[in-house]
Amino acid sequence: MKPVRLMKVFVTRRIPPEGWAALARAEDCEVEHWDSDEPIPEKELERSVAGAHGLLCLLTDRVDKKLLDAAGANLKVISTMSVGVDHLALDEIKRRGIRVGYTPDVLTDATAELAVSLLLTTCRRLPEATEEVRSGGWTSWKPLWMCGYGLSQSTVGIIGLGRIGQAIARRLKPFGVQKFLYTGRQPRPQEAAEFQAEFVSTPKLAADSDFIIVACSLTPATKGLCNKDFFQQMKKTAVFVNISRGDVVNQDDLYQALAGGQIAAAGLDVTTPEPLPTNHPLLTLKNCVILPHIGSATYGTRNTMSLLAANNLLAGLRGEPMPSELKL
Ligand code: NDP
Ligand code: DGY
Repeated sequence: MKPVRLMKVFVTRRIPPEGWAALARAEDCEVEHWDSDEPIPEKELERSVAGAHGLLCLLTDRVDKKLLDAAGANLKVISTMSVGVDHLALDEIKRRGIRVGYTPDVLTDATAELAVSLLLTTCRRLPEATEEVRSGGWTSWKPLWMCGYGLSQSTVGIIGLGRIGQAIARRLKPFGVQKFLYTGRQPRPQEAAEFQAEFVSTPKLAADSDFIIVACSLTPATKGLCNKDFFQQMKKTAVFVNISRGDVVNQDDLYQALAGGQIAAAGLDVTTPEPLPTNHPLLTLKNCVILPHIGSATYGTRNTMSLLAANNLLAGLRGEPMPSELKL
């Protein structure tokens, strides 16, 4: 006899097959989902989550007090298919005794790989260069045409030497980087030792780096961290890359810095808002490369993230230790 399906689970999107299969195998759960590749509208999510015991969500779903109220007292577990948790109202979630699962580690390599790709694409001006070939702007080999900046002998500053920050440094080291600087809430001497990275203040990192990579989490303390003052402290030849969250950067200030030649170039995998409107001023700049938040976008990684998110959810619902639980 089939056991009674007791727990209601709502999944806010179509998710990759491995995660979906794990949920489908769970005989103790009644799983419903938003059957689309596009985000569920807010009102529809509020309606769908009512009475759910478990919610599997994405970084595009804002889980705030209103949504938690709409879910009601049954909700015991929220599992996000992301390592970033800035879309979750963690204080409110903690107050309600809800457990949270997330997906650290499994996306670190893919995201670091993308960060390095974006850095090289930006500092060596690849989108501009390919455009010149297409448009006939390539008239001859010229000594200073399409020149950019190289990593060899450079100083690289990393904002947030966490899992992804370290994986980026590990990949950049063989390019001949001379010095790594980093910032964070406190020094991380053990992790920094691998790169002989020096813990410095944010203004010093801005002033001394040839390349800056933002790899921190978005928190009230990091919101707007890279602003006018920050860009003014940077070298005019420096290249800025953000793979963290759009809100860490003041985009108006970044636009001014890029348009006015205050800094050399920027590469962004994340923006505010997402998607960035196609008429956004940053998209008019040749020295700004913008990607559509694809840091973790390999088939393997996204599948593994979905499986981890499903397993977190199921373990949480069953009162078992989650493979990756966020400590609240
Ligand atoms: P970790 O928790 O390992 O690292 C977060 C880092 O943020 C830590 O080094 C932490 O530093 C730093 N940090 C926190 N507060 C501050 C602060 N006030 N100033 C400077 N640094 C700070 O997370 P991950 O490395 O796994 O992921 C980092 C972030 O990357 C995620 O939160 C997510 O937003 C983003 N991300 C983006 C992806 C994309 O597709 N573009 C893919 C995956 C992640 P400290 O040592 O002081 O704690
Ligand atoms: C995350 O996990 O936080 C990324 O932004 C997407 O993988």
